[in-house]
Amino acid sequence: MRKNIVAGNWKMNKSLEEGKTLISEIMNTQNSSDCQIIIIPPFIHLSVANEITCNSNIAIGAQDCSANQSGAYTGEVSAQMIKSAGCQYVIVGHSERRAMHNESNNLLNIKVNQALENKLTPIYCCGETLEEREANRHFEVVKQQIQEGLFTLTEEQIKNSVIAYEPVWAIGTGKTASADQAQEIHNYIRTIIADKYGNSVAQEISILYGGSVKPQNAQEIFAKEDVDGGLIGGASLKAEDFIAITKGF
Ligand code: PGA
Repeated sequence: MRKNIVAGNWKMNKSLEEGKTLISEIMNTQNSSDCQIIIIPPFIHLSVANEITCNSNIAIGAQDCSANQSGAYTGEVSAQMIKSAGCQYVIVGHSERRAMHNESNNLLNIKVNQALENKLTPIYCCGETLEEREANRHFEVVKQQIQEGLFTLTEEQIKNSVIAYEPVWAIGTGKTASADQAQEIHNYIRTIIADKYGNSVAQEISILYGGSVKPQNAQEIFAKEDVDGGLIGGASLKAEDFIAITKGF
């Protein structure tokens, strides 16, 4: 019923030429997979990435958008601009932006609205730090991130959103949450959404796992009932690994 998704977040990697090559490699290696593939390169790659993939089933997304519509915001890129480059998705609230740019749940709520108003699907990231997990606060932290970031949305809007659970301690560290740990939180997230919007809405929302997903562990994680795919960092930078992950369903 809900979409399986594998999204590759390149972060701040690849020159324009290297990016074009990687996208072409992904397109050449990929043959029909059971999921929506999304490539999320840096801003300057977006137009060309959309040109290369326009006749394929690969979608393109941006890594962030501004909370503002337009105007004197040097260095920022609006949701409208991202849409105009041909994108369908935008990551909102990646833990690196929460940590390094002090992005709060309330600011992210504004960004989510900007995305939806411009017909982009937000991929809203949540997840606890190691300290929070060790203090057994992970449920509480994720609940607050979801409530403050998303719960002003209408039913229709939340149905057009994707959630990514990414425990900060698993990002780029080689430490993955176990498949059972992922399932536990994913199920919890779906329950919180069901409490607010009803079960049928909750069942329609794709919830992705992110944090050191590799070809070797993707299948076990994606097999869990409430895990609908992954947000992939490091392993999305090699076509072969990324495509292998998309075959993990
Ligand atoms: P990673 O990153 O796969 O390199 O751990 C995931 C992410 O930050 O989205």
